[in-house]
Amino acid sequence: MTKQNLPGPKARALIERDHKVISPSYPRGYPFVMDHGNGSEVWDVDGNRFLDFMGGIAVVSTGYSHPKVVKAIQEQAEKFIHISSDFYHEKWIQLAEKLDEIAPFKEDALSFMTNSGTEAVETAIKLARYHTKRSNFIGFTGAFHGRTMGAVTFTASKAKYHGGFYPLMNGVTHAPYPNPYHPVLERRKGEDYGETAVRYIEEEILNQVLPPKDVAGILVETIQGEGGYIVPPDGFYPALRKLCDKHGILMILDEVQCGMGRTGKWWAIEHFGVEPDMITAAKGIASGMPLGACIARKSVMDWEIGTHGNTYGGNPISCAASLATIDLIEKEYLQNAAEVGQHTMDALEEIQARHPSIGEVRGKGLMIGVEFVKDRETKEAAKEVSDRVVELGFERGLLMLSCGKSVIRIAPPLCITKKEVDDGLQIFEQAITVAEKEANIK
Ligand SMILES: Cc1ncc(COP(=O)(O)O)c(C=O)c1O
Repeated sequence: MTKQNLPGPKARALIERDHKVISPSYPRGYPFVMDHGNGSEVWDVDGNRFLDFMGGIAVVSTGYSHPKVVKAIQEQAEKFIHISSDFYHEKWIQLAEKLDEIAPFKEDALSFMTNSGTEAVETAIKLARYHTKRSNFIGFTGAFHGRTMGAVTFTASKAKYHGGFYPLMNGVTHAPYPNPYHPVLERRKGEDYGETAVRYIEEEILNQVLPPKDVAGILVETIQGEGGYIVPPDGFYPALRKLCDKHGILMILDEVQCGMGRTGKWWAIEHFGVEPDMITAAKGIASGMPLGACIARKSVMDWEIGTHGNTYGGNPISCAASLATIDLIEKEYLQNAAEVGQHTMDALEEIQARHPSIGEVRGKGLMIGVEFVKDRETKEAAKEVSDRVVELGFERGLLMLSCGKSVIRIAPPLCITKKEVDDGLQIFEQAITVAEKEANIK
């Protein structure tokens, strides 16, 4: 694909206006100014076309403006846009019924609807304290759970998220996330590295610092997102479940990024054969309409009337969009995510064989991370390469996002085709070739 001169004049003018009136805190990746989208393609305001490998940060699960989602939104908007969570409506109930059906545990599920991922996490934190009557939590290094005060306390992917905002929430201790590519703990003979990470929690945290009877929950991203698209070893969740059961601690999974079919199953935890006590969802749940949910076992969501609520929870338009989204995922995109995801992994492994800067390709379904290193032996992060690949991709018509220290995440709409993946990967490889040459990686 040919290089485009970006940003174009219309995009430049809009960015200038944006900078005068919008909070400077937003981390903007590159100067893409959206005009419209269709499926896995988007166009900017100057008429440039891009293939999208990031789906609005893993949100646009059914692609841009899927006609069935648009129709559901339009029909609901014509009836009513809002009624408030003090009252009842059918779409909200239908959505909760569907979430009960797909929740990754056998027990009945109750759902609390939110406006975002971070609010779903806040809900989980509050519910865990309320239910267990305990105050403390364990979170993980590299985690991202959002930016409101409770969730951001658990977030540990960049110190910047905490700097200037102290004091944070009390009672959160971070344990090392089991990253098999960069282990920081010593594995004992015969131990899976995930089991090592759980042993560390038991021996070094629960025995030495934080009595288990004071721990309400362990909050963990089933597959870590912002921290680098890291898939924990198979032994991690079974061992964590055992630890939680032993001490009456709630296992709370944040699947805001990895849930809702992204990994080829409804929930990433289904790859590990373990049942959590609570799960948070957002992002892909409604194709981009603001919606999140904290889904808990019925026996856990036992708070009394009035203890927790919100104005927009169960917003009818978001619920209608979500029902249409879930229907599409169920009928077509779960399978597509698994199949096209495997196709993408295979193709990336071939690309890795040709490019020494790729240290690891990992993931499940359409949640794939490509980690760039200066040297495969030392595994030192090659941030200049990953940043440059994103930039060069953009100039050539491919939208990507980075995460972790030097990882590019591939999280396209779940409707993406093999042909679109192949087209995108061609640009990706061209960009890697240029970036490797510039960084002198051979
Ligand atoms: C795993 C995870 N949890 C929570 C959040 C926060 O979601 P939101 O930005 O909707 O508040 C994110 C957002 O990236 C996320 O990836």
